[in-house]
Amino acid sequence: MEDMAGRGPGSSGLAYMVVASQAVGLAVILVTGAWMGVYRGGLAWESSGLQFNVHPLCMIIGMVFLQGDALLVYRVFRNESKRSTKILHGLLHALALVIALVGLIAVFESHKKKNAPDMYSLHSWCGIVAFGFYLLQWLLGLVLFLCPGASFSVRSRYKPQHVFWGVFLLLLSVATALLGVLELLLFKISDTYSSLAPEGVLANMLGLLLVAFGALLAYVLTREEWRRPPLAEELALSMDFKTLTQGESPVGSH
Ligand code: HEM
Repeated sequence: MEDMAGRGPGSSGLAYMVVASQAVGLAVILVTGAWMGVYRGGLAWESSGLQFNVHPLCMIIGMVFLQGDALLVYRVFRNESKRSTKILHGLLHALALVIALVGLIAVFESHKKKNAPDMYSLHSWCGIVAFGFYLLQWLLGLVLFLCPGASFSVRSRYKPQHVFWGVFLLLLSVATALLGVLELLLFKISDTYSSLAPEGVLANMLGLLLVAFGALLAYVLTREEWRRPPLAEELALSMDFKTLTQGESPVGSH
């Protein structure tokens, strides 16, 4: 809280929005866990039915909550060095990708055990696009921003792309999760959904929480005044760099 409120105009509002996003994000995970635990028999890796339940939980934790939190790192840690903030951002995304991969293996393996068809639904198409581009975005970020060697001008030209696609992929993941919620409801309770079955109501609440999480994140990430201002030493360094190279303004570079 102090870190966020400490620098930049209007950053106390930022602290409240970040706290709200975390509360909603944790509620999303808890409601998904409750849905799988109470109505779908819990989690297990060996049986195909219960193995499927690992899929929603891992995808929500990885592709929604952790992906979102990785994006918030630059808004939350405003007084840390740019390098450590970048490393934390990359590590959170890596953890998100690993957990999401476990969720994908769970659904493909459970399909294989049941001899069920793969990759026919809109949810699965959006899901594979979201995961594939998320992995690509992470690899490009790693090579261009964390590995030494990428030139300053390549980094600064790629940075706006990285920022736009980062927000887009989070929103696509939220939309994919919504489609997944609907698909599971249609598979499991299509005959009682229209009479407001408790499982359907719980899943609808999960859907609303997912929408709220996406909205809070998009709001925080697109507020210009909440961007991380460069630290004094970063500014000095970038001015030195500018005078050395006479290139583009490096202020705010990734
Ligand atoms: C961003 C998060 C998610 C991604 C990227 C994702 C991705 C995928 C993919 C690629 C498949 C295809 C698997 C196959 O065809 O064998 C799939 C299947 C499925 N997913 Fe997701 N998913 C996500 C979240 C969810 C959530 C939150 C739910 C439910 C609450 C869910 C429910 C389903 C269902 C019901 C299937 C089909 C399983 C079946 O046919 O038995 N997914 N998902």
